Amino acid sequence: MERQPDTQPPDAATVAELLRAAREVQARAYAPFSKFAVGAALLTEDGRVFAACNVENSSYGLSVCAERAAVAAAVAAGALRFRAVAIVVSGDKPATPCGACRQVLVEFSPDMTVVLGAPDGSHSLTTAAELLPGFFRL
Ligand code: THU
Repeated sequence: MERQPDTQPPDAATVAELLRAAREVQARAYAPFSKFAVGAALLTEDGRVFAACNVENSSYGLSVCAERAAVAAAVAAGALRFRAVAIVVSGDKPATPCGACRQVLVEFSPDMTVVLGAPDGSHSLTTAAELLPGFFRL
């Protein structure tokens, strides 16, 4: 029997609101080195939104991705189950989360919807598990 997802995809209005929140926080990205600004807006199962941007550092390896910053904020506020995350990036290609962020997202909610924002304002939908086949879990 096929496994049923334990989270439902967000409706169109929710997706639009998450993309808006991601764009808003993207404007605050601290990315003077890569000039690649990222915004992520994470929707928790209990309806809260945590938005974060990437934060780079002169010591490059210390840079923090937007998605993981949003997860850290949500977890610190007591949320461990996520329904969706919207991600927007600068440049001319649609957003795609890095491997480390994919692993961090599946840790909490493999079935969560991942909204990938595109520069033209369109988006596509996938899930955290689809983005990381064979993901690691203890
Ligand atoms: N970055 C993110 O914020 N999320 C990703 O999923 C990929 C990369 C950031 C890290 C760095 O500040 C910049 O984008 C360029 O790699």
